[in-house]
Amino acid sequence: MEIIVVKNDQEGSEKAFEIIKAGLDNGEIKTLGLATGGTPLKLYAKMREAKLDVSDVSTVNLDEYVGLPADSPQSYHYYMEQELFSTLNFKETFLPNGMAEDLDAECDRYEQILADHPVDIQVLGIGTNAHIGFNEPGTPFSTKTHVVELTQETKDANKRYFEKEEDVPTHAVSMGIASIMAVKKVVLLAFGESKADAIQQMVEGPVTEDCPASVLQNHPNVTIIVDEAAASKLK
Ligand code: GLP
Repeated sequence: MEIIVVKNDQEGSEKAFEIIKAGLDNGEIKTLGLATGGTPLKLYAKMREAKLDVSDVSTVNLDEYVGLPADSPQSYHYYMEQELFSTLNFKETFLPNGMAEDLDAECDRYEQILADHPVDIQVLGIGTNAHIGFNEPGTPFSTKTHVVELTQETKDANKRYFEKEEDVPTHAVSMGIASIMAVKKVVLLAFGESKADAIQQMVEGPVTEDCPASVLQNHPNVTIIVDEAAASKLK
């Protein structure tokens, strides 16, 4: 794992942007893996400002809530449309369909999309409980795209985006740990003190299903970009 400690999220987003820009410029990135949440917002702003030509690039997203239509402002479809897809000319974009009637079939369909579009660089955030995608603690490392029941900690962390706590979905469709481990390169971003424990466990703790992000210790190509607050508990 390569760890880059930066002053703040602005600097961290610039670093991540440079990595992605270089991969686009040299043709390495044919499929870009994308994440949602607050963490990548400044990275996506930089990508919009740069008016990147991504006409030969496909994207796949990590996850989507179950039961939120694409036009719901809290859905990840909506987030991606706002932040990137309405501005940049990606060849094609994929997210799990959390509205599918048969969610198991949807998971299989999404795994096929991933097989057809091997991810060259995956942008990742991390939950305060060290979840990646929506893979909560205890998720077997062998898991592929699956339906997840969100933990209380994750619902609490994400309820700021919803009007009422009851509106927070209880389930999501997420790429699994095995699907994430299959990507060629991971760029994980974490900013702020609330991520310090998760970062410490991920980097210095044992590789265990209790800490989903710790699996990345076994991935051959991971760059972690953290600000000083998120890095503050590293030895
Ligand atoms: C959400 C998303 C993750 C994201 C994480 C952190 O639950 N499913 O993909 O990385 O939480 O979110 P934030 O960046 O807002 O802290």
